[in-house]
Amino acid sequence: MVLLKPDAVSRGLCGEVIRRFEQRGLIIAGMKMLKVSPQQAKRHYQEHVGKPFYPDLIDYITSGPVVALAVKGNQAVKVLRTMMGATNPVDALPGTIRGDFATQMENNIIHGSDSLNNATRELDIFFSKEEIYE
Ligand code: CMP
Repeated sequence: MVLLKPDAVSRGLCGEVIRRFEQRGLIIAGMKMLKVSPQQAKRHYQEHVGKPFYPDLIDYITSGPVVALAVKGNQAVKVLRTMMGATNPVDALPGTIRGDFATQMENNIIHGSDSLNNATRELDIFFSKEEIYE
């Protein structure tokens, strides 16, 4: 499960990021643009409740449209996280998405699930079963 965050959309980076996924051989099985509701944001980021950055995180992810992607492929979670680069773009290597397009933790372009369990949980927040294609 990938979210191209409001900064990716407003900066016109969605095509570039999706191109990288497809070029790598990952499969886009679901895709939609939406404005994340506060309820969806709170479900999505439930593990961060209580952290100092949580209120800003919720404000940010609900601030403008995002593109949600269901991505499939061999070891997709691992491959995607390597392609995204470190969560803090300051530490992300050149060649990674965050390393090429971001410098700030709060505006780090992209979210990707960190496990298959979380991917299943997060997909359920943004997609119905019928919206994900085999
Ligand atoms: P993401 O992969 O969407 O998961 C949680 C997000 O919280 C993360 O990307 C960052 O955008 C943000 N985040 C994580 N840690 C911090 C932090 N220490 N300060 C501010 N934002 C953070």
